[in-house]
Amino acid sequence: MKVYIITGASRGLGQALSELLNKEENLVYSVSRNQGDAAGIFKSCDLSKPNQIPGLMDEIFKELEDVSFDSISLVNNAGMLSPICSIENASGEQIISHITTNFSSPAILTSLFIQKTQAFEKEKRIVNISTGAAVTAYPGWSLYCSSKAGLEHFARSVAEEQKMQEFPVMLINIAPGLVDTAMQDEIRSKESKDFPNVERFREFKENGNLMPPKRVAQWILDGLERADLENGRRYVIDEFK
Ligand SMILES: NC(=O)c1ccc[n+]([C@@H]2O[C@H](COP(=O)([O-])OP(=O)(O)OC[C@H]3O[C@@H](n4cnc5c(N)ncnc54)[C@H](OP(=O)(O)O)[C@@H]3O)[C@@H](O)[C@H]2O)c1
Repeated sequence: MKVYIITGASRGLGQALSELLNKEENLVYSVSRNQGDAAGIFKSCDLSKPNQIPGLMDEIFKELEDVSFDSISLVNNAGMLSPICSIENASGEQIISHITTNFSSPAILTSLFIQKTQAFEKEKRIVNISTGAAVTAYPGWSLYCSSKAGLEHFARSVAEEQKMQEFPVMLINIAPGLVDTAMQDEIRSKESKDFPNVERFREFKENGNLMPPKRVAQWILDGLERADLENGRRYVIDEFK
């Protein structure tokens, strides 16, 4: 039995991951604010409110006390792009909510996951769904670029801590490429004054450059089967195709 905790599973890439993984040999926990089309066991949690996270993790690990499993993975997939604008036009509340959802909450989930699986000797993995924007700067996306870059470097640093542990957790960052989800709809709906690259993203859609979430999810799952994954490394989806 393999256990997966997937955040942002109500739609898009997280939904596709939850659906592909929801088979008899796996136990899937899907975490988001809305249930949407999430597969597996749904747990409601608003990751912009990090005080909800300890209760969520206590509940999941209490349920797992009666389950015999040989692998457990946390997939930090939930994420937001907004506010899409030059930073002087973002409010303090928007900035805090963004950094909380994209960085602080995955960090808290990582901390609790490691605490709760410390004595577990078998496979333990944390997979952060990152983005090319973590390494390329885009005007209008300063919070997204920096929250994702921060999460990637957080994972690299925690991987170094884990290398010193008897039963280490493997942490990797995956940039999934262009995926045809609501997040891309949101990008295309912006005005160029807020997102100067918007026309390029409209062309990606028109030219069929956006990949279906299910296809990308399958590539990610295939990649996770690789025996040569390196703890702390960043992978781009082309390496998994
Ligand atoms: N689409 C792309 O082209 C692309 C490219 C690179 C990277 N990514 C990354 O891939 C991941 C998935 O993106 P997507 O395109 O599938 O986005 P999406 O369609 O907008 O889905 C986002 C998911 O995150 C959840 N979420 C957002 N805010 C949340 C909150 N406060 N608490 C709990 N859950 C929350 C949403 O669920 P609820 O609204 O129900 O809470 C939803 O399930 C993100 O990390 C994104 O940065 C996407």
